[in-house]
Amino acid sequence: MSDAVIVKDITKQFHNGTTSSKKKETNINNNSLFTALDNVSFTIKKSSTVVIGGANGSGKSVLMSIIAQLSNPTTGTVSTDGRVGLIFQDTDTQILGETPEEDIAFGLKNTKVPKQKREKIIQDMIQKTGLSHRKGFPARFLSGGEKRRLAVAGILAVECPTIIFDEPYANLDYEGVQQVNALICMLQREQKTVIILTHELEKCLALADHFLILYNGKLVFNGTPHEGLKQPLENWKIRNPLTKYSNSNDLVWL
Ligand SMILES: Nc1ncnc2c1ncn2[C@@H]1O[C@H](COP(=O)(O)OP(=O)(O)OP(=O)(O)O)[C@@H](O)[C@H]1O
Ligand SMILES: [Mg+2]
Repeated sequence: MSDAVIVKDITKQFHNGTTSSKKKETNINNNSLFTALDNVSFTIKKSSTVVIGGANGSGKSVLMSIIAQLSNPTTGTVSTDGRVGLIFQDTDTQILGETPEEDIAFGLKNTKVPKQKREKIIQDMIQKTGLSHRKGFPARFLSGGEKRRLAVAGILAVECPTIIFDEPYANLDYEGVQQVNALICMLQREQKTVIILTHELEKCLALADHFLILYNGKLVFNGTPHEGLKQPLENWKIRNPLTKYSNSNDLVWL
C-alpha cells in the first residue's frame, strides 16, 4: 500500500501574541517564539483511517492546515498524493451557497469539470450524503449534522483522495454523531484516506486503523488504536474512553 500523506520533521513556530501572516513568520525573533508543532514526523497509508488525538491546543488544527497546504511549516516537509479536502470544525464558515445545491456548485466552479457534467455531480453528491430532502432548503437552517454532510458533499464533488475532519463531533447530538460516522464509513468504502482530529476518542477510535497522539505540539504516540488505549492518555490530557460505567455515580468526569 502506498502513502497518502508523508509528514517529515515538521516544526511550526509562531510569534507570541501575533497572527500567522507570512510577513511576520519570516521575520523571526528568537525571544518570543511559540512552538505549536515540534519536529513531528509520520506517514499515513492510502485508504486508511487515522485518528489524531490531542487535547485543546495540542496542535491538531495547525497540523491540518499544514497537511492541506493552507500554511507553511517553519521547517520540515509535507507531501500528499493529491488534493486534501477539509471539513472545518465550524462548518458555517465553509458553507457559501444559499442552498445545498448552490453550495456544492460553488466548489465545482474552481475545477476543470465541464459545465454540463456539474449538475449530475451535484445531484449525486446530495443523494450520497442523504440530503435529497434538503437540496433547495436554506443552508443556514440545516442542523449541525446536516451542515457537516453538506461540507462532505462539497469535498466529494471535487474528488479529494484525502479528507480531514477537524473536531467533527463538536456540538452534535447522538444522531448527529451517528450521521458523521456513517459518512466516514461511506468514505472508507470508497477507499478514501480519512483523518479525524479529535479529543473525543470514544466516538470514533473503533473506526480507525491508525492512531496518533499530539501533546503540546509533540507526537507522543504513533501506533494502533489497541496499543494507544494502553498508553497513559491522562498524562497527555485525554480521557481514556475504556472507563466502566455501572451506576449513576460513575457519570461524572473527575
Ligand atoms: N496563528 C497563530 N498564531 C499564534 N499561535 C497560534 C496560531 N494558531 C495556533 N496557535 C497556537 O498553537 C497551538 C496549537 O493550536 P491548534 O489550533 O492547532 O490546537 P488544537 O489541537 O487544534 O486545539 P483545539 O482542540 O482547541 O481545536 C495553540 O496554543 C494555539 O494558540
Ligand atoms: Mg483545533
